[in-house]
Amino acid sequence: MPNVDNSTTAKTLADLGAGNLTEINLLFRVQRKDFDLDVSASCSDFSALENLRVKWIGRRSGVLAKITENWLKPAASELRPIVGQALNELKAHVESVLEERRRALEADFVARAGLGKEGLDLSLPGVIRPIGSHHLIRQVFQEIEDIFVSIGFSVVEGPEIETPYYNFEALNIPEFHPVRDDMDTFYLELPPLSDKNAAKTPLLLRTHTSPMQIRTMEKQKPPVRVIVPGKVYRRDNPDATHSFIFHQVEGLAVDTDITFCDFTGTIEYFVKQFFGSGVKTRFRPSYFPFTEPSVEFDVSCPFCGGSGTAAGGGSCSKCKGAAWIELFGAGMVDPAVYGFVNYDAKKVSGFAFGIGIDRLAMLKYGIDDIQVFFQNDVRFLRQFP
Ligand code: DAH
Repeated sequence: MPNVDNSTTAKTLADLGAGNLTEINLLFRVQRKDFDLDVSASCSDFSALENLRVKWIGRRSGVLAKITENWLKPAASELRPIVGQALNELKAHVESVLEERRRALEADFVARAGLGKEGLDLSLPGVIRPIGSHHLIRQVFQEIEDIFVSIGFSVVEGPEIETPYYNFEALNIPEFHPVRDDMDTFYLELPPLSDKNAAKTPLLLRTHTSPMQIRTMEKQKPPVRVIVPGKVYRRDNPDATHSFIFHQVEGLAVDTDITFCDFTGTIEYFVKQFFGSGVKTRFRPSYFPFTEPSVEFDVSCPFCGGSGTAAGGGSCSKCKGAAWIELFGAGMVDPAVYGFVNYDAKKVSGFAFGIGIDRLAMLKYGIDDIQVFFQNDVRFLRQFP
C-alpha cells in the first residue's frame, strides 16, 4: 500500500483552502503549537532531541521541508511573501528551542558527571603555553641595528635572489675577476621562459649583502647612510665555521665630505658599543674590489682583555693567543662603484663595511659551531631567551 501522508503539511495551501494572511498565519500557529507540544512531551535526552530535530528540520522529510515543498513553492505569487515570512519565523523558533534544549541537556550531563565541579577548580595551574623568543641571530641583528640607528643610519633590506650585475659587476667585480672564486655561488636553474624574446637574465643567490649598496645608491641621491641586515649564500661545505647560508650586515655611508676619520670613528663607536668600551680597535690593509683603500677591522680580544692569555694561564681559546680578533672587512667606497650609480666620484666620498653576523654572535656568546644556528634545537634556542 502506498504511504499516503494525510497530514496538513502534505497538502497545498489551495487544498487546505488557505488564501489570505489570517488563514495562513493560523496554519503556521498550529504548526508552532504542535512543535512546542512535541518538545515538552519528549525531549529528555540526546536521542529524543535528535529525533525531534529530524522530524522538524530534517532536510528531506522534516516538517519545515514539507512546508517549503507543499505550501511555499506552489503558493500563488501574491501569497508567497506571506508564507515565506511565516516559514522563516517558524524555522527560527524551532532552531532556537532545539539549541536551547541541547545546551540544557549538555549542562545537565556535565553536572551529573561531576565535570562541572572539576572545570571550576580554580586551584589548578591552567594551561601554560610556551612563549617563543627571537632567535639569537635576530637578537644580534637587532642589537647592531639599534647601535647604527642611534647614529643616524636607516635599515633597508633587499632581495636574496640577485642578478650577477648587482652581486658582482656593479661592485667592480667583472667576470673572471679572481675575487669571484672566494664566493662560490649558487646559480639558479630557471624554467624556460615562455616569452622567447624576453632577455634571459641569469639569477643567483646573493653571496653578500653588498649588492644593496648599489640598489640603495641607484634609488637615492647622497647623503646615504644605511645598514642592510640579511641572509647570504655560498656553496660552502658545512663544518663548525662554514654554512651555505649565513648572515651579514652591510653598511654604507656616502656624502660630499666623508673622510677616513669618519669611517674609523663610526666603526670604532660600533665595536665599543657592541663589545664594551674597554676594547681597542685596529685595522690592517686588505683588498676588496669595491673599496679603496680596503681594511680588515680587528678588535682586541674582549675575553682575555687583549692579553692573549686565558684567566687560568695558557693561551686564550677565543683569540688563540693572538690578543686580537679579526672582525670584518671595510673600506672607503671605490670611485669606480660611483660610476655604476651615476654619482659624481669627484664630489662624493664614503665608506662601506660588511659584518659577518654568525661569527660575531659566536664570538660574543661563546658558541663553537655555526650549525647550531640553523638546527633550531630548542635546547640551544632556550639559552638565549
Ligand atoms: N662583501 C664582503 C664579503 O662578503 C664584505 C665586505 C667587505 C663588505 C668590505 C663591504 C666592504 O661593504 O666594504 O666578503
